[in-house]
Amino acid sequence: MDLSRFSLEGKVALVTGASRGIGKATALGFANAGANVVVTSRKLPDLELVAEEIRGLGVKSLPVACHVGRMDQIQELVKTVVGEFGTIDILVNNAGTSPVLASSLDLEERAWDVVMNLNLKGLFFLSQAASRVMKEHGGGKIINVASIDAYKPEYHVGAYSISKAAVVMVTKVMAVELAQYNIRVNCIAPGAVETRIYDSHWFDVSEEQMKKEKAEVAKRIPVGHIGQPDEVAGAMIYLASDASSYLTGETILIDGGSFLV
Ligand SMILES: NC(=O)c1ccc[n+]([C@@H]2O[C@H](COP(=O)([O-])OP(=O)(O)OC[C@H]3O[C@@H](n4cnc5c(N)ncnc54)[C@H](OP(=O)(O)O)[C@@H]3O)[C@@H](O)[C@H]2O)c1
Repeated sequence: MDLSRFSLEGKVALVTGASRGIGKATALGFANAGANVVVTSRKLPDLELVAEEIRGLGVKSLPVACHVGRMDQIQELVKTVVGEFGTIDILVNNAGTSPVLASSLDLEERAWDVVMNLNLKGLFFLSQAASRVMKEHGGGKIINVASIDAYKPEYHVGAYSISKAAVVMVTKVMAVELAQYNIRVNCIAPGAVETRIYDSHWFDVSEEQMKKEKAEVAKRIPVGHIGQPDEVAGAMIYLASDASSYLTGETILIDGGSFLV
C-alpha cells in the first residue's frame, strides 16, 4: 500500500474541542500529517497556545472561539473558516460535555438541554453547515466523537450516554445521505482516556486517591493502561485521510479492549 494515502498535505481541517485532550492531540496529529488546522473551543487564550504549537510544525493554524451548543456561533465559525481558507476538507466533531451526575429519576431538563445542545444538536448542525461547503468543493470527511457509553450506560451520566448513542446514528444517517457527494462520515468511540473530562469522575476525592483508583481501573483494562489522547489521534488521521476511502458510517471503539471484559 502507498503510505502517502495517509497524508493530509494541504488539507483544511476544523477540530472542535481542540484546546486540550483528544481534540488537541488530533489537531497536532493532523498538522504532523500536513494539514492546516482551525482549532476551536470556547476559550480563545487556550486555543492560541495550541495554534502556536501547530504553526511550529510548518502548517497554518487559526484559533476561533465558538460555543458549539449555540447555533448562531456554529454558522459564524463555518463562515470564518471558509473566509480564511476557502473550504473545509475535514471536520472533527470532538467537543463534548458531561456536566451533571444524576440518575434518570433526578435529571433536570436544563442539564438535559446542555448535554444535548452540545453533544448532539451542535454536532449535527455543524456537520450540516460543513457538509454544504464540502458538497460545493467536491467532498470531505466528517469524524464524530461518541463514547463507549454509547453502547453501555454508565451510572448517573444517562443524558451523556443517550447523546453519544445518537451520535453513532447521526454518523450512519449522514454517511448514507452524503456518500453521493464524496463525503465520508465516521465516528470514534473512546473508552477511558486521560483528559480533564475523564478526571472529573474524581471531582470529590484527593489527587492521591484518584491515582490509586486510576491504577485499579488500569488493571481492569485488557491492554493494562488508561488511554492517552495520542492513542486516539492515529485513528483520526486514518479516518481523515484517503487511506480509509472504503469506510463510511462506521464507529471505531478505541478502548484498550474494555468493552470485551
Ligand atoms: N476522555 C475520555 O475518557 C472520553 C471517553 C469517551 C468519549 N470522550 C469524548 O471525547 C471528546 C473530547 O473529550 P476529552 O476527553 O478530550 O475532554 P477535555 O480534555 O475536557 O476536552 C474537552 C474540549 O471540549 C471543549 N468544549 C467543552 N465545551 C464546549 C462547548 N460548549 N463548545 C465548544 N467546545 C467545548 C473544551 O474547551 P473549552 O473549555 O475551551 O470550551 C475542550 O477543548 C468529548 O466528546 C468526550 O465526550 C472522552
